[in-house]
Amino acid sequence: MKTIDRVPVHVSIIMDGNGRWARERGLERAAGHVEGVESVRACTEAAVECGVRYLSLYAFSEENWGRPQEEVNALMALMFKSMIEELSTFLENGIRFIVLGHRERLGDELNRTIDDCMEKTSGNTVLTLVVFLSYSGKWDILQAAKRYAREILSCPGKADELLSIDEDGFGKYLVTEGIPDPDLIIRTSGEMRLSNYLLWQGAYSEFLFSDILWPDFRKEEFRSALLSYSKRDRRYGKVK
Ligand code: IPE
Ligand code: IPE
Ligand code: MG
Repeated sequence: MKTIDRVPVHVSIIMDGNGRWARERGLERAAGHVEGVESVRACTEAAVECGVRYLSLYAFSEENWGRPQEEVNALMALMFKSMIEELSTFLENGIRFIVLGHRERLGDELNRTIDDCMEKTSGNTVLTLVVFLSYSGKWDILQAAKRYAREILSCPGKADELLSIDEDGFGKYLVTEGIPDPDLIIRTSGEMRLSNYLLWQGAYSEFLFSDILWPDFRKEEFRSALLSYSKRDRRYGKVK
């Protein structure tokens, strides 16, 4: 196996193509989501093996609430089941688990399981696994702006000081506070769009679009994405 130099600190994945994977096999869409969980396991393992520190996954967007109720229910039930089942693996492998997104839209039962999983793994340091649930980039920026505005309104005496905020300062109001911006954003299934994902945080990410459907995206594909990243020249607008 080739060793990978310049391993990205934070890899983020828009996991797409579960429905098409199922359709190709004459199965229900939900079967694609179930198989996709295997890819989550494989990529999490590969991330640990490669020394990636943050792996984040776009699992359910704010827009995905508009899917048929049956599919939404199946996805929520799968999240619930997977979190319960994976907790021991997280604990054994030093994985810190975090869910970010519009948590109020998730059910109480799921929220309790998320809190439990986050609390029990909070001291782990090998890999931080972030799952974006009921997330969208515009929602995130808007909730940040509202929290910031509320802070100004509640302490008018500090308004001038608060208004001198810079980009890093504003970034602290986003739900990703404390998590470095993604170095690499991968999208599977051949689609080439952001679908309202990390709009602020992805400002200087490298992008990799793969034709492989998410349930087929396993360790080998993850490693090959990292190899491709290691050859990129990140200039950040400067001249080298
Ligand atoms: C990604 O797969 C999973 C979610 C968005 C929840 P899709 O369900 O979008 O699969 P396709 O794009 O229809 O194939
Ligand atoms: C993006 O996939 C959201 C997630 C992967 C969770 P979608 O399948 O929902 O996005 P569109 O509809 O192709 O833009
Ligand atoms: Mg899709």
